[in-house]
Amino acid sequence: MKNFLTISVLICAFMISCTNAEEEPKPVNFTKEIKPVFEKRCVHCHNRETLPDRVSFENAKTAFLPAKDGKVYIVKGKPDESLLVKAIESPNFHEKMMPMVGLRTTKEEAALIRRWIAEGAKWPKGPAGKVKVTFRAKE
Ligand code: HEC
Repeated sequence: MKNFLTISVLICAFMISCTNAEEEPKPVNFTKEIKPVFEKRCVHCHNRETLPDRVSFENAKTAFLPAKDGKVYIVKGKPDESLLVKAIESPNFHEKMMPMVGLRTTKEEAALIRRWIAEGAKWPKGPAGKVKVTFRAKE
């Protein structure tokens, strides 16, 4: 009986630790989850050639540059202060400038970007951090 109790307690402890592990999602992976969104939805406009005065999401260096007026697009750890999050979460902010409705991010993509910024917006250096511009939208 004593053994049975000990084993039950152990099993319970194990199950609790497992459920806790499930509650904590894995950190967002830039290369696998964020880069494809920028590639598919943003970088054909937001590259240095097409919109030279706007934010470019081609690599970490250009994406973290503040705008001329001091606005910051990605504030590490603070999605609510990041213009990038505002641009994709509030329908009027960006849609006015971008009537191509089909290009908008999905809810899941927007949530991933929000979480990625909350986790510190880690953007790798080198080829993994380069977002390919496959075509360039004309202004
Ligand atoms: C069809 C071209 C196009 C696409 C695609 C596009 N944008 Fe934009 N975006 C623009 C233009 C043009 C502006 C500037 C509008 C203005 O200032 O009136 C802009 C502005 C912005 C701004 C605010 C810049 C500022 O200085 O106020 C952010 C942030 C932004 N875009 C993020 C994104 C993100 C993130 C994506 C992808 C999910 C994206 N954009 C996709 C054309 C585009």
